[in-house]
Amino acid sequence: MAPVAPFLLSLLAVAGVAEAGPLQPGRHMAPAVYNKGLAGHARREFHKLMARYYGDSQGMTKPPPLIERRANNMPADWTSMGCMNESWNQRLLEGSSFSSNKMTPTLCMTQCQKRGFQYAGTQYVDECYCGNTFVGSGGQSQPDAACSMACKGDASEKCGAAWFLNVYKYTASVSANCTTPSLPAASVSGTATTASPIPSPTSTLPAQNSTVPVHNSTDSSEWYAHGCAVDANPRILNEFSNTAMANMTVDSCLNLCEEKGFSFAGVEYGEQCYCGSKLPASIKYADICQLPCKGNAKETCGGFWAMEVFELMKAGADCPVQVPAVTNIGNNNIVIPAPTATVSPAQTTPLNPAKTTTSSIVAPAPTAQPPSASGDRQVWAHHMVGNTYPYTQANWLVDIRAASAQAIDGFALNLGHESWQVDRATDAYAAAQNSGTGFKLFLSLDVTSLGCWSGGDASNLVSIVQRFANHPNQAKHNGKVLVSTFAGSDCNFGTGSGSGAWQSMFVDALKNQGTNIFFVPSIFSDISTFSGNSWMDGELNWNSAWPMGNNQISTDTDNRYMNALGSKEYMAAVSPFFFTHFGADLWNKNWLYRADDWMYCARWEQLIGMRDRVKQVEILTWNDYGESSYIGPIQGALPGYSGKWVDGFDHQGLAPLTQYYSTAYKTGQYPAITKDTLVLWSRPHAHDANANDYIGKPTGWDWTTDYVWAVALTTSDAVVTLTSGSNTQTFNVKAGLNKLKIANSPGGMSGKITRNGGDVASASINGQYTTSPSSYNYNYYVGSS
Ligand SMILES: *[C@@H]1O[C@H](CO)[C@@H](O)[C@H](O)[C@H]1NC(C)=O
Ligand SMILES: *[C@@H]1O[C@H](CO)[C@@H](O)[C@H](O)[C@H]1NC(C)=O
Ligand SMILES: *[C@@H]1O[C@H](CO)[C@@H](O)[C@H](O)[C@H]1NC(C)=O
Ligand SMILES: *[C@@H]1O[C@H](CO)[C@@H](O)[C@H](O)[C@H]1NC(C)=O
Repeated sequence: MAPVAPFLLSLLAVAGVAEAGPLQPGRHMAPAVYNKGLAGHARREFHKLMARYYGDSQGMTKPPPLIERRANNMPADWTSMGCMNESWNQRLLEGSSFSSNKMTPTLCMTQCQKRGFQYAGTQYVDECYCGNTFVGSGGQSQPDAACSMACKGDASEKCGAAWFLNVYKYTASVSANCTTPSLPAASVSGTATTASPIPSPTSTLPAQNSTVPVHNSTDSSEWYAHGCAVDANPRILNEFSNTAMANMTVDSCLNLCEEKGFSFAGVEYGEQCYCGSKLPASIKYADICQLPCKGNAKETCGGFWAMEVFELMKAGADCPVQVPAVTNIGNNNIVIPAPTATVSPAQTTPLNPAKTTTSSIVAPAPTAQPPSASGDRQVWAHHMVGNTYPYTQANWLVDIRAASAQAIDGFALNLGHESWQVDRATDAYAAAQNSGTGFKLFLSLDVTSLGCWSGGDASNLVSIVQRFANHPNQAKHNGKVLVSTFAGSDCNFGTGSGSGAWQSMFVDALKNQGTNIFFVPSIFSDISTFSGNSWMDGELNWNSAWPMGNNQISTDTDNRYMNALGSKEYMAAVSPFFFTHFGADLWNKNWLYRADDWMYCARWEQLIGMRDRVKQVEILTWNDYGESSYIGPIQGALPGYSGKWVDGFDHQGLAPLTQYYSTAYKTGQYPAITKDTLVLWSRPHAHDANANDYIGKPTGWDWTTDYVWAVALTTSDAVVTLTSGSNTQTFNVKAGLNKLKIANSPGGMSGKITRNGGDVASASINGQYTTSPSSYNYNYYVGSS
C-alpha cells in the first residue's frame, strides 16, 4: 500500500485529538503543536529520547538521582495538592509565570519558591504559574487523569493539561528576601463567554543578565540539575576548573564548585569539573551526556563536549533568578558540536571509520557452530500498532504471512493510548488465528503513551492484557502470558511508592483475575536494580540493537545486562538500520545509528553465538517507517513526512537474511542453502554530499561509509559480480554466506551470481546512487534476487 492519503492523515489527527484528554468544548489551547495527531508518533519521540538518553554503550545507564541531601524529587517543604481546575479565561495563579523546555514540577516549585510564592502549578506540558492565592472560581480538586500531559522536561511526570494544573504548596513560611523582578501578570483576554485563548506565557522570564548571588558552603542551598548542555569553546562554565579529577563523581564536582563559591557546576567527559557564577545567555540542551564518572561508573558525568549543568539555589533568597535561555532544539536533536581548534584539555576523538579506500573486501561466512541450547528459542518482531490506523485484517494477514515465512514467531504489538489501537490489535489477533500459521502476538505496552500514573492507568493496562490473555494466538513463555513494555521504570500508578507498584497494581492484579504473566519490559534504568525487581521476569535491552556511537555493534551491553539480571531472562534486540529525519517543524529528530559493515548480519551472528544464554530475540522493527528500521512491507500510515525517505525504500529484500539467521538462532544450525540468493543494500547518496535540505545532515552522518553492501548465499562455489555506477568487481566465493562490498560510484547498482559461465541469480537496486542529492536520505535501498 502506498503512503497514506492526505485525508487519512487528517482522520488520524482527529482520532488523536479525540483521545487527547478531558478537554471541554471551546477550551482551546494555544499552539496545537502538542497535539501531534498521528497516533503513536508523538510518543515515539519520547521513545527515542529515552533510548538515547539512557543509551547504554560503555556502561551507561540512567543517571542516578542526586545523592545525599541533593536527592529531591519534591523540594523540601513542598507538598502536592494534586490536579486542580482553572476557571475559563482566568488564570488560577497570577503571581508569576514562565514556560520552559525543561519544565518539571521541581523546576516550577523551585522557581516559584525563589520568587517568594506559596503555590506553584504546572500546566500544559511546559508552563509554570506561581501565586499566593487562587484567583477565579477554579482551584477544585480534579481526578489525576485530568492532568494528563507529560512534562516537557521529564515525560515521566505530569504537567497539567489545558486549563488544568498540577498544584503544589509551599508549607514553610514564604520568605523571598530579595526583589522579585516584576513579571507581567498572566494576561487575561476575552471574557467567559468568548473562546479566545489566553496566550501562553512565553517570554516572561527575568532578564538574562540578572546576577546570582555567590554562596557560602554553609548555607542551606540545594543543587538542581539543569540538564545536559552542548559545550563549546570557550566552555559554558569557565571561571574555575579541575579537568582531571581522578575520583570524579557528580557530588565531588558540586562540592568543589560550592567550596569555591560558585553557583554553577558542570561535569563533563567523565573526569572534568567546571565552575562558574553565570551561564551564557543561550544554551543548547541535548541528551548526549553518557560517559560514566571516573570515580563511580554508576553515575554519568557529561559526555564528549557535553556538560551536565547544575545550579546551586538557596531557598527563598536567591532572586532575581538567572534562567538560561534554552534554545529549543527538541528533545531528540542530538547536536554534537565539532570540536573547534585546540581546546585544552584535549579530548580524544572517537573512532572514525576509514574512508572508502579499498574497493571491495570479502568477509567470511559465519563458520562457528552455534552453541547448543535446551528449550525453545523465539524470534519476535516489534510492530508499531500506531502505524496501522488504516489496517484491515487483510493487512495484518499480509504481515503475518511474510513474518512467518522468515521464521519469525510473532509480533510484539507496540500499543499506545488511542482507543483505536486496541481495535487494531484485536484485528491482529483475529488475523493470526485465521492465518493458520500458529503465529503469536503479545503486547508491548507503550507506557509513555498509555500512562502509568494512577490506579486508573493500572486498571487500564490490566484490562488490555486481560482482553487478549486467553486468545489462542497469545504468545506464552514458560506457560505464562508474555507481556512487554516500552519504558516504565518510573511508573508508580499513583502509589508514590515507585516502580514496585508494578507488582501489586499490575502483576498481582492480573494474577487475581486468573492471568499469570511472564513480564519482560524494556525499562531504562540502572541495570543493577533489575535482579531485585520482583515484578520483572526479564528485560528487553532495546538499545542493544545498534551501536550507540561511532563503533561496531558489540556484545558488551548484552553481557552486562545478563550479569545484572542473574537468573532473570534477557531478551536481546536486532535491527537492520536506523535513520530518522524530522525537522524542527515536526518531531525534531534527525540522526542515524551506524549500520555499516553488514551490521544486521553481524548482530544476528552475535545473537546466534549467545543462543545458549538468550532465549528470545526481538527484531526492531517490523514497521517503524519514520526510523527506517522496518523489515516488513510498506503499508499502513507513514508518520508525518517520512515518505520522503521511505517511499521507494522497500526493505523486504532482507527477508532471506532474516529467515536464514532466525532459523539458525532457533535451531542451532545454519540452514542448508538450497537456492543461490543475492541481497544488496546501499544508501542513495554519498555520506558527505551536501543537499539543499532545511533539516540538515543527520547526526552521525560522518560515521558512515559509501559502499554497496552485499550478501551472497551460495549453494556451491561461484563468482559474484557487483556493480555501482562505473565500479565493477568480481569475487570468487565459496558455498555459504559471503559478505561483499563495493565502493559506490554514481549510477545504478546491481549484482549477480554466476557459475560455470551462467547467471544463477541477479539483483538490482531500484534507484540510483548520486553525489548531489536534493535532500538528505540515509535510509537504505535494498535489492534482492
Ligand atoms: C472545577 O471543578 C469543580 C468540581 O469538579 C466544579 O464544580 C467547578 O465548576 C469547576 N470549575 C471550573 C471553573 O471549571
Ligand atoms: C527575610 O527577611 C525578614 C525580615 O527582614 C527576616 O525576618 C527573615 O528572617 C528573612 N528570611 C530569611 C530566610 O532570610
Ligand atoms: C561568605 O562567608 C564569609 C565569611 O563568613 C563572608 O565574609 C562572605 O561575605 C560570605 N559571602 C557571601 C557571598 O555571603
Ligand atoms: C577516591 O575516593 C575514595 C572514597 O572516597 C577514597 O577511598 C580513595 O582514596 C579516593 N582515591 C583517590 C585517588 O583520591
